[in-house]
Amino acid sequence: MAVAWLVTTGAVVATPATPVWSLLPQPAKATPAVSGATKITDGALIAVRGADRQQVQAIAEQFVQRVADTQGLHLRMASTSDAHPAITFDVNASAEVTGDTGYRLTINDDGILVTARTPRGAFYGSVTLWQLLTPAGWTHGAPVEVAHGVIDDYPRFAWRALLLDSGRHYQSVADIKKLIDWMSLNKLNVLLWHVTEDQGWRLEIPKYPELTKIGACRKAVGLDSELTGSADLPYCGFYTQAEARDIVRYAAERYVDVVPEIDLPGHSQAAIAAYPWLGVTGKRPEVWTDWGVSPWLLKPNEKTLQFVDDVLDDVMRLFPSRYISIGGDEADKQQWNASPEVRAQMHTLGLKNMDELQGWFMNQVAAHLIEHGRTPVGWDDELVAGATLPASQVVMSWHGDHNEQVALAAIKQGHDVVMTPQESLYFDHYQSDLPDDWPGPPPAATLRQAYDTVVIPNGASAAEAQHIIGVQAGLWAEQMPTFAHDQHAIFPRVAALSELGWSPAGTRDWHDFLQRLPAELARYRALGIHYADNAFAPTFQVAAASHGALRVELSNQAEFGTIRYTTDGSEPTAQSTAYAQPLTLPGNTTLRAATFAEDGFELAAPRSQVLDETTLLSRDSSELATCSKQPASRLEGSTPTQGSRPVYSVDIGNACWLWPQASLGGVKQVVITAERIAWRFGDEAKDAVVRRKISAAGELEIHADSCTGPLLASLPLDGVAQAKGQVRLDAKVGTPAGAGVHTLCVFATGDPRDGQWALGRVMFSK
Ligand code: ACM
Repeated sequence: MAVAWLVTTGAVVATPATPVWSLLPQPAKATPAVSGATKITDGALIAVRGADRQQVQAIAEQFVQRVADTQGLHLRMASTSDAHPAITFDVNASAEVTGDTGYRLTINDDGILVTARTPRGAFYGSVTLWQLLTPAGWTHGAPVEVAHGVIDDYPRFAWRALLLDSGRHYQSVADIKKLIDWMSLNKLNVLLWHVTEDQGWRLEIPKYPELTKIGACRKAVGLDSELTGSADLPYCGFYTQAEARDIVRYAAERYVDVVPEIDLPGHSQAAIAAYPWLGVTGKRPEVWTDWGVSPWLLKPNEKTLQFVDDVLDDVMRLFPSRYISIGGDEADKQQWNASPEVRAQMHTLGLKNMDELQGWFMNQVAAHLIEHGRTPVGWDDELVAGATLPASQVVMSWHGDHNEQVALAAIKQGHDVVMTPQESLYFDHYQSDLPDDWPGPPPAATLRQAYDTVVIPNGASAAEAQHIIGVQAGLWAEQMPTFAHDQHAIFPRVAALSELGWSPAGTRDWHDFLQRLPAELARYRALGIHYADNAFAPTFQVAAASHGALRVELSNQAEFGTIRYTTDGSEPTAQSTAYAQPLTLPGNTTLRAATFAEDGFELAAPRSQVLDETTLLSRDSSELATCSKQPASRLEGSTPTQGSRPVYSVDIGNACWLWPQASLGGVKQVVITAERIAWRFGDEAKDAVVRRKISAAGELEIHADSCTGPLLASLPLDGVAQAKGQVRLDAKVGTPAGAGVHTLCVFATGDPRDGQWALGRVMFSK
């Protein structure tokens, strides 16, 4: 790769024109040489030396396969008689590297040498080397020049994790393996595998067959009926013990530990559906079809503890990981409080409240794990509630705004902590306000927010900071019905996670991270990953200009790359006009824009904006505020017979939107698209806003100035209440209270718990 020389008076400073190496995560120490490069061509030889020969040979072979599959170069394993391999892997216990996970990459005239003390270190070296062979702008199958220098690398944290929720929606074994593969290429090493939920028990436990016979199936409500093919076919799935073992083995080959999570005593409705005696009421609930926090809790008695021990015995047989998660989050105590038996137990144990009872229960469970040499892991909830967690438990700190304080409190109580703040590292959250963003709960968790996650709590002493053992992102799966959803949610935010977990704090630099992303996105493409481009996607701010023209400002969320556009309907390319300042365009223009990196790599696919007399008279729900001013959820609609599946911005339980400062002088007609989404929002029901309806099925109403202001239009829902998919309604607009600028309020009447109306687009016309 070219290194440009900047000659200044009296000194010579090497300044790379582009980053010499485009690596992600950024290594602990990267020292490029002032000049020189080693060329790796098709057929280049790879040798393996030193200890652990078999394992290192397997790593080298995996590397060869990865380079062939993605880069297109075919490297060859050297035979013992080959004198000058281009690449050598050398593992020996006294290698000069940092720690057992560290490695050193030396690139010089002798070729490329990967040294490590362990196969694990060699594996991470092989990942970095693969990145060196896929630099910015690489050409498939073409030789690569790797700049000379030395990379000394090791991880910042021991726990670099992704949580995969297989409870709400499960993923195929093949897809989980792909995910593990991609995790390892981000130098992540823990898959926190969430296999039990209210909505499904997904792990075979032979002693309790009903767990998967009953607990792994739920009624196909809403979009689940699209997955099963019919609302009459239940949504079912679980992992056999053989499949779990296969996943563990596959992960181990990529230096990923699978840490299973059996969530207790809440998130257990599916277990109670299988064995009602596990619950408090004795009744058999359905496997939950809602989202949120279910009130069904395990009964904290000896019989349940025996069940949990039995399950954990199997779990320990399947999962060799030192760590096992027992959950402990979101245990709503209403059933415990209502049960005389549970209250009596609390008093007998001399406990003050139900949080302490949960603490007692979790301590019993943890003791069983500890007896067997395992370390329990769990959520921070009881700590937040003021109860004590099992002493040796690793705490996953997810709690919102006060995450740093909760983490510090856990450390002060002697726990090791994994940081997984929901605001920035819950990857189920949507990523932008783009109309075409995918579904997810609010608020947005942007790429930048993920990157800026505070990993060491403010106020932690150096000694306390030692107890932060890592970071974790959560892929909660209520709204992740397919593997495409998973990929869109994980990539590229996982690049930020990777860097949080691996790179030294001192290397943190958002702009430098962005510079290294184009090469990484190109690797995603080569790996076949369907990543999100919304951090770079052009957004259009349109305003009126004089004589019917429109003024358009273009920008993107990451403020990175060059936005290029066309106005003739053609696809923007790296040669199209670069956007530099607001455009004034005549009506009847279609503006198309895409974002490109410096080397021409397309960072974001083209987005279009039609500019005509309707542009300023229409809004997508993603461009409206919610009446509560709370950030909206993004809910997915059903598959239309044509076109892409719609996503709606909705304040769940309050079907009400605001369009501030709408300029609607002279409008006569309005068209609204909307969809009625099956209610499955659990505990959100208590906050549902019910509006007085006039017709039997209710109506959509548009009011001027405020939600109680003059009625502009009413669109009855009678004909469409049972329609499947998106509906289109139209109405005449009454005269607003004076023409000109008004805030508009659009709402659905009726009870959202009977079906949540979601707004697609509001379109006025003159
Ligand atoms: C959680 O998000 N309930 C851990």
